[in-house]
Amino acid sequence: MKTLQINSSLFGPGGQSTTLANEFVAQLGGKVIVRDLAKDPVPHLDGARFGAFLAKPADRTPAQQAVIDYSDELIGELKAADTIVIGLPMYNFGIPSTLKAYFDHIARTGVTFKYTDKGAVGLLTGKKAYLVVARGGVYGNAHPHATYVRDFLAFVGITDVEYIYAEGLAISPASKEQGLAKARAAIQRLNEREAALI
Ligand SMILES: Cc1cc2nc3c(=O)[nH]c(=O)nc-3n(C[C@H](O)[C@H](O)[C@H](O)COP(=O)(O)O)c2cc1C
Repeated sequence: MKTLQINSSLFGPGGQSTTLANEFVAQLGGKVIVRDLAKDPVPHLDGARFGAFLAKPADRTPAQQAVIDYSDELIGELKAADTIVIGLPMYNFGIPSTLKAYFDHIARTGVTFKYTDKGAVGLLTGKKAYLVVARGGVYGNAHPHATYVRDFLAFVGITDVEYIYAEGLAISPASKEQGLAKARAAIQRLNEREAALI
């Protein structure tokens, strides 16, 4: 099994989502590639970068080709993985801007999705994703923080998504302890289930 672990906590290795994702991935076993968006942030998608996505391959300038090569590298990591684990902190009611910039660089027409008569079709199929969610408050699974990521992943073809929640981390020390314990129990359950499938 090949796992791509995407960390997006601004606290780096000290982030709760990163810590829990590390624990989950260590138990999964197999080969692991880590993409740390705090250490190596993806640039914001601006007009010049999106222009590179739109330019015909033969017409690309060297600068546009460099943008494509970088995007292709990110997409290549996704294509090579059969399991994707995303550390997903909640910052100001949304996902980290670094993760949004990453998503903006992997959504490419004809590469990760295509338009057909029946609408958009995702091309990164046959993969399983786990979202390791860390939040100061308690919002549950219907909050746009989680549903947005689910919708984005489905758009590029990743429809098999499961969640590990660590919530209430900023409410009180007891609430934090309880939130982390719940997340670790979920990790345990998922790892036992994965082990039974091997
Ligand atoms: C800049 C910032 C903004 C935050 N905004 C929210 C928020 O809107 N809602 C919430 O429940 N928690 C919020 N929190 C708390 C984080 O969700 C919590 O610290 C969580 O552990 C972050 O995940 P991480 O430790 O993996 O970075 C915020 C934390 C930071 C640093």
